[in-house]
Amino acid sequence: MNKLLTLSLLAALGACSAKQGEMVVDGSENYERYCAGCHNPGPGHPGTMLLAEKGVRVPSLIGRKDLDYDYLHSVVRQGLIEMPPFRPTELSDTEIKQIYDHIMAQKLPAAKAQPAKNRAP
Ligand code: HEC
Repeated sequence: MNKLLTLSLLAALGACSAKQGEMVVDGSENYERYCAGCHNPGPGHPGTMLLAEKGVRVPSLIGRKDLDYDYLHSVVRQGLIEMPPFRPTELSDTEIKQIYDHIMAQKLPAAKAQPAKNRAP
């Protein structure tokens, strides 16, 4: 029984280190982990809601065409008012670039691209 536990622990550890050494080639995983909770389209996402209040035309990150990489990179590193900064140990520059590329490659689902009803004209 103990032997089995040790073996499965070893297997799990092996899986972890394999994953770390692996190049993550698209940013979708990190986007989902670090950004989606605050920035996905729709209600319940503080980043999206705050940007909508500020009058940003597309308040989710997905679907925006006006974000440039340098700006996104500096917001991620320094934070912005309500948004926490991310240290290089959390997200490397390469990972930020991959998140950026992922965001730029996505299209907003048509229903969610509709302007909010309560938006000022
Ligand atoms: C805890 C919630 C939270 C997380 C996590 C978060 N953000 Fe934000 N983000 C915000 C909020 C809130 C704002 C709006 C800040 C303000 O202007 O008050 C924002 C603003 C931004 C902006 C500026 C948009 C603009 O129009 O000026 C960018 C770019 C951005 N976030 C990218 C990201 C990326 C990329 C990630 C993931 C690595 C991320 N954020 C993670 C909450 C978050």
